[in-house]
Order: sequence, then C-alpha cells, then structure tokens
Amino acid sequence: MAQQEEKTPVARNRDNRCSGPFKISDHPTHYLSAAEYTDIPEMVRVLNLDKDIYNGTASFQYPYLESHAFTRLENAYIRDNQSGYTTCWAMRTSPDGPLIGWIHAHFLPEDSGTRIHPETRRELKVGVIGYWVSPEHTGKGYGSRAARFVVQEYLFKERGCDIVRAEAYTHNVPSRRVLEAVGMECEVEEWTVFIPKLQKEMVICCYAIHRDEATKSVVTDKTKDP
Ligand SMILES: CC(C)(COP(=O)(O)OP(=O)(O)OC[C@H]1O[C@@H](n2cnc3c(N)ncnc32)[C@H](O)[C@@H]1OP(=O)(O)O)[C@@H](O)C(=O)NCCC(=O)NCCS
Repeated sequence: MAQQEEKTPVARNRDNRCSGPFKISDHPTHYLSAAEYTDIPEMVRVLNLDKDIYNGTASFQYPYLESHAFTRLENAYIRDNQSGYTTCWAMRTSPDGPLIGWIHAHFLPEDSGTRIHPETRRELKVGVIGYWVSPEHTGKGYGSRAARFVVQEYLFKERGCDIVRAEAYTHNVPSRRVLEAVGMECEVEEWTVFIPKLQKEMVICCYAIHRDEATKSVVTDKTKDP
C-alpha cells in the first residue's frame, strides 16, 4: 500500500518583523511574542478548559483540536511570510514561557473607494484585532494590555493603520471593557450577523479607534464591511 506523504508544515520566517518578545508590563510580567507550533499543546489545553473562549469568539472551536491550531498557525505563517510581519502573538509571563492568551491582527481588504480619508481622499487602512485570555488568567489586565500594545505600537505606529476596529458579542462585557480600555468607541451598538460555527445569528457590536479625528465619519458600514 502506498504510504501517505508527510506534508512539511510551512515554517514561520524568523525574520518577520514585530515577532517580539515584547515586554509590555513588569507587574505582572507580560510578554507578547509570535505564536509558534510549539504552543499548540498549550492552546489545545487552554481552549478546552471550559467554553468561555468558544462562547466569546466567532472562530475558535470547541472542542479545540490540534488540527484547528495547526491550520490557524500555518495559514497565519503563509500570510505573514508574504507580508514580512508577524500577526499572531502568544501572551506569556516570561519570554519563552507557556502561552496564557492570544491576540491577532488583520486588515480589511481594500474596498475600491468607500473607506476614504474625508480630507485627503486617500484609501484608509483599517486593522482589526481579536484576542482571548486563558480562564486561568483573566481579570488581571492581560487582555487590555495586549490589545493596547497591538493597536498603538503595532497597527498604528508600525503598520500605518488609520482605523482599528474590533467586534464583540453585545453581551460580552469583559471583551467590551477591553476595547474601551484601549480607547475604542462603540460605532454600531447592535448588528445581527450569522456566525458560521454556531450556525445561527448573534447580536454583535462594533468598536473603533481612529488615529486622526478627521476620519471619525468613516464608521463601520453594515452593508459593506465584513
Ligand atoms: C475578554 C477577555 C479577553 C478579557 O481578558 P482579561 O485579561 O480578563 O481582560 P482584563 O483583565 O484586561 O479586563 C478587562 C475588563 O473586563 C473586566 N472583566 C474581566 N473578567 C470579567 C468577567 N468575568 N465579568 C465581568 N467583567 C470582567 C475587568 O474587570 C476589566 O474591566 P475594567 O477595565 O472596567 O476594570 C477574556 O475574558 C476572554 O478571553 N474571554 C473569552 C474570549 C473572548 O471573549 N474574546 C474576545 C472576543 S471579541
């Protein structure tokens, strides 16, 4: 019988920019560094501790399998190796310690001219963040600190975003508090969207922070934005 060929996983390019480790707090110690394949066992353990992360996020599964983590990381590395920038980080309490949380950033695709700077008329760059913290470590500021760092230091300063957005289920108070701690404002209070993993509609709210006051009129557009 023909042996199945082992597929070599796409490796993360170690030269990708913004891989860290970044120390973002001393008390408690809090680092962000690129999520690695070696984080997979801890991701699987944490994401199966209870259903909090599954319930709070639109894309993380429960039960969470090694194959879910592997696919997520490999897809991220393919994109990151093309752009030359890391976009998925593990939260850790030491530079090489186990993952205690996760944060990622991505960009809205250009939309042929509807997200335009009202004064200069150039196309705006819009970043989006998503995150979770292990239920063993919630309530200690990890979520807010990581989100603040990724928004301010990475998306605004390093990637030149004009606007950063995030969505949360309207009832997800801890996540809304994280976004408010970052300085985001709620642009859409209630928007009913279909969540594929749940196969049902949920009510979400949309938050944003603008680098330049002049773009504040460019709000999340229910008819166009993903
Ligand atoms: C949302 C989440 C990332 C927050 O992480 P965290 O590290 O606990 O966040 P912080 O410690 O920075 O706390 C943020 C705020 O939430 C509040 N909070 C934390 N846990 C809470 C809880 N269980 N109930 C109510 N408020 C809570 C904190 O008091 C803080 O509010 P404050 O700024 O008014 O003091 C975490 O709860 C989580 O992973 N949830 C499941 C996944 C999820 O919902 N991800 C977001 C998807 S949009």
